[in-house]
Amino acid sequence: MEKLNGKKKLRVSVFISGRGTNLKSIINFSKRKSSPFKVVLIITNNKNAKGINFAKKNKIKYLFVNYKNKNNAESKILINLKNNNISFICLAGFMKILSKKIINTYKNKILNIHPSLLPKYKGLNTHKRVIKNKEKFTGCTVHLVNSKLDEGKIILQKKVRVLKKDNENSLSKRVLKIENLIYPRAIKKFINSNL
Ligand code: GRF
Repeated sequence: MEKLNGKKKLRVSVFISGRGTNLKSIINFSKRKSSPFKVVLIITNNKNAKGINFAKKNKIKYLFVNYKNKNNAESKILINLKNNNISFICLAGFMKILSKKIINTYKNKILNIHPSLLPKYKGLNTHKRVIKNKEKFTGCTVHLVNSKLDEGKIILQKKVRVLKKDNENSLSKRVLKIENLIYPRAIKKFINSNL
């Protein structure tokens, strides 16, 4: 069993729907000896999510959950989280909204990353709206998940300057780099202060 300072490493599950750059950075960080957590289960609602490749490459268990029936999907998720002794969950580009069934079972144990300086720009298409509103700064936020969309206690947030020449694509690329940087750090901070 892997340990850090005599303590068992916490077992985390990462939920994804797409390309998985945040998953990749979480996995890479977790491979360090000094990481207090390890990624043991990846869950996706999208069979074709590119991010699954990082699971395969790192021999991490992954599970596809069909969301045709949300209630059944969440039951399957809960069973698998329990069977794998998952301590906390990281949402990383997971495009489904969790219901209270999961949120209450893992109360204050679900993190999410959002590409804006919350509480500003909740929801989708953040970069487009930021540019339209001529904001000087945007950024990204790792926060706890509660039953309201993109709310919950902020764990870590970082600002990114919006350049005059930025379009949605260039801005999202720059913010994503910072997302990838802060997500593992936020997890560490969360573990040290909440678990
Ligand atoms: C990120 O921009 C994240 O903030 C948002 O979805 C995107 C996921 O990107 N919630 P990736 O799949 O981690 O590359």
